[in-house]
Formats: sequence, C-alpha cells, structure tokens
Amino acid sequence: MPAPTWFASPAEASERLTGSGYLADTPTAVTTFLAGSLEKPLLLEGSAGVGKTELAKAIARSTGAELVRLQCYEGLDEARALYEWNYKKQLLRIQATDTDTRSWNETHDDIFTDEFLLSRPLLTAIRRDEPTVLLIDEVDKTDVEVEGLLLEVLSDFQVTIPELGTLAAVRRPLVVLTSNATRELSEALKRRCLYLHLDYPDAERERDIVLSQVPGLDDALARQLVETVGRLRELELKKSPSIAESVDWARTLIALEIADLDDAAVTATLGVVLKHATDVDRAVKELRLARS
Ligand SMILES: Nc1ncnc2c1ncn2[C@@H]1O[C@H](COP(=O)(O)OP(=O)(O)O)[C@@H](O)[C@H]1O
Ligand SMILES: [Mg+2]
Repeated sequence: MPAPTWFASPAEASERLTGSGYLADTPTAVTTFLAGSLEKPLLLEGSAGVGKTELAKAIARSTGAELVRLQCYEGLDEARALYEWNYKKQLLRIQATDTDTRSWNETHDDIFTDEFLLSRPLLTAIRRDEPTVLLIDEVDKTDVEVEGLLLEVLSDFQVTIPELGTLAAVRRPLVVLTSNATRELSEALKRRCLYLHLDYPDAERERDIVLSQVPGLDDALARQLVETVGRLRELELKKSPSIAESVDWARTLIALEIADLDDAAVTATLGVVLKHATDVDRAVKELRLARS
C-alpha cells in the first residue's frame, strides 16, 4: 500500500500537528485525520481567534503540502475565486496578429489557451499535481452565489472552462473551509463537508500553547494569565481575547519583566488583550480592578 498523503491515524495527526506548533485536542485530531483519509472537505466553525486558519496552515506545514488560500470577502466573484482571461494580453496578441493571413477562428483558438488564463486559488488548487491544502477562509463572508460555485468545485473537483473544456483534479487537495458563523451556510455545502466546531482550548491546552510559543515564560505566570483570559472571555465583551492575544500578553509580561499578574499588572497591560474602550471599562468593573 502506498504511504498515505495525509495522516496514518488520529494519533499521528495529533503528533505531527504538535510538531508543527499546533496543539490539537482529540476531536480536532480525529476530524483532521478523517478529512485526509475520506478526502472530504473540512468545515471549521467557531469564533474569531480559536485557531481555524492556523489549523489549515498547520496541516500544510506538517505534511509538507503547499497551502493555497482563497480569502473570502463580500463581493468575491468567480473571476477572483476560479479564473479569468487575461484580456490585456489577449488584446496585445490580437493587435500583433497579421489579420490578412490569419482567420479570426485561428486567432480565437490562439488566445483562449492556457497562456492567457489567469488561474485563481480554486483552479490553482485543482490543477496542482503535488499535495495541496486548499484553505477557503472565512466562507461566511461571501455571497450565496459563491457557495454555489464552491459546491460545484467541491463535489466533482473539476472545473469546466467553456473555451478549454473540463479540467479535472489530478490530485485532490485537502480542503479546509473556515467560518466565523456570521451567517448560516447552505445545507448543501454542509452536506459535502465534515464539520468541526472549534472553541477556545481548555486552560491546560491554552497554557501549553502559550508556553510553546513564548520561550522563557514561567509556568505559574502562564497559569495565571490563562486563568485571567478565561475570566475575560466569560464577560460579555465586544471582542473576546483570542489565543493570539494570550500569546501577545505573555510576550508583554516578559518584555516588562512582570513576574506576577496581579491586579495592578492586569490593569497596566489590559490594552494588549482588549481592543475596545467599552471592553476595558467592563473588565475593570467586573474584575474589580483599580483604575490605572
Ligand atoms: N491549537 C493551537 N495551537 C497553537 N496555536 C494556536 C492554536 N489555536 C490557535 N492558535 C494561535 O492562535 C492565533 C489565532 O488563530 P487563528 O487560526 O488565526 O484563528 P481563527 O482563524 O479561528 O480566527 C494564531 O496566532 C495561532 O497561532
Ligand atoms: Mg482565521
């Protein structure tokens, strides 16, 4: 049996992700393994900063696959997601063509070839013959029409270009879609995918993440920090601190040589974790911190 392109088991997925800096819990490791072995797109849903994008990157890093990323946004269209023709180059070619000797049909056949095709992430991922992780990031930001397009591509892994014919994947990419759940995705799209809801990690895992990313951090301080971040996340904030903010906070404490995260230290550095004045106000009030 040939060596699997992706992961041999959930345990191996977990190990390799850890090796590339991503600490996955068991459901994450199992689902990641399945996405590879079943060749099913993986839909990751969860709040901002829980590690959705990073998981896709870590899968690529840990398997040596190339990451192809389609960042979604409002107004994203087929020309940006799939392909478009390079009109400028086509025009130049037409201008440079001797129209006396060549028929329009010949010219037409000439300018609708690979040379004039601008490949966008979806087509790029499908056409690669090396292992590829296709990250379709923040899919909930696109319009519903783009979902239709994704459905087509993700069900057959092929793209039909009227002038060129059907281009089928030589090698299926491992597809990861992420969503912040700002809107419901279509049932049809969900049906194509494995689903994983990501939440903030538990305190122990978050401490491990912070410790692994911030060398020199004291274990007890990391514990304090993660506990405080946990309390902040329980408040009703405009923007809860993400794992990235925990890491930033740890770096801040080291830079300021703060060894104990007492109330004064929290107040002095709260701007690293909370990015809205109203959130800072609320935290000060709820955590009963003294104003700095
Ligand atoms: N399980 C994890 N292990 C290591 N780092 C993590 C983990 N989850 C999240 N992170 C870190 O948290 C930050 C935010 O993650 P990100 O993937 O950008 O969040 P999301 O895409 O869900 O908004 C990144 O800097 C990432 O390195
Ligand atoms: Mg993200």
